[in-house]
Amino acid sequence: MTTTTDKGTANGAATAATIADDAEIAIRGLSLAYDVRRSKKEGGATSLLALDDINLDIRRGEFLSIVGPSGCGKSTLLYILAGLIKKTAGSAKIEGMEVVAPTLHTGIIMQAYALFPWRTVQKNVEFGLEIKKVGKQERRQIAADFLEMVGLSEFASRYPYELSGGMKQRVAIARALAYDPEVLLMDEPFAAVDEQTRGQLHEQLLSIWEKTGKTIVFVTHSIEESIFLSDRVVILTPSPGRVKETIDIDLPRPRPAELKSSAEFAVYRKQVWQLLQNHGELIEEILLEDGNTSLEAVPFVEGI
Ligand SMILES: Nc1ncnc2c1ncn2[C@@H]1O[C@H](COP(=O)(O)OP(=O)(O)OP(=O)(O)O)[C@@H](O)[C@H]1O
Ligand SMILES: [Mg+2]
Repeated sequence: MTTTTDKGTANGAATAATIADDAEIAIRGLSLAYDVRRSKKEGGATSLLALDDINLDIRRGEFLSIVGPSGCGKSTLLYILAGLIKKTAGSAKIEGMEVVAPTLHTGIIMQAYALFPWRTVQKNVEFGLEIKKVGKQERRQIAADFLEMVGLSEFASRYPYELSGGMKQRVAIARALAYDPEVLLMDEPFAAVDEQTRGQLHEQLLSIWEKTGKTIVFVTHSIEESIFLSDRVVILTPSPGRVKETIDIDLPRPRPAELKSSAEFAVYRKQVWQLLQNHGELIEEILLEDGNTSLEAVPFVEGI
């Protein structure tokens, strides 16, 4: 297991010289402050620093997860990479090009399902292909292939309101994949689905990722999910978001679901958990009778 603070630099500051040759995404000194409107009584307009000096290289074909407390700027980071909002300072490059607007090079799957309610499932998936001006026949075929990949061929002519949360999320994945972006940005895509469906979606996503070689940046609140899916997990600090630590997940692939109950998995879980804790608590790994381990929070008393 290896941990680094942003490519090994002690303070998270990377320089141009440290950009890896295989970096698909290179983020340097990235900060974002939102303008916040307040009443005169409250002191008038101000700004809120959501992200502060983020430095991160993401390799081509890497599966990278981002975890951090609510409000630490995870969605903000994805929106900047998707070209949906403009950074305040620093640089975010994809394939060496500064991100300034949305492009078909990058697909985003939003925190809330963002399907077009007036379009059928099939037409939702065809959307990016229409923008790309792909012909009707080819569009239909590509959309059908991706719907088959996510197991929704039978639902092609249905509308989003007729689908369950997990199904909507699979349509969103098919839609993002259909126009063949190199980079897939996923913002808590499975947060609203039940445990069993989530497990199935993990398998599907990993198999799609292995088949297509996409670069995936995946935001989640689930420590388990982040470890199970990823090559690396980035932990952000509470607001303003900074890179607290980056952990390499050296677990073999393919990863069967049983891996989640293994001892080596528990070690990663403990590590990420600890990094997410407040300073007032430590997490202890308890050895259970069946040989597995459990993570327990224990109060941290200074000096002991
Ligand atoms: N449009 C906006 N205007 C002003 N402040 C905003 C705006 N969007 C987000 N913020 C603030 O920026 C900070 C980061 O928000 P962001 O949505 O990126 O957090 P997050 O890590 O994705 O949180 P969560 O885990 O709850 O989804 C928060 O304090 C939030 O209140
Ligand atoms: Mg968010």
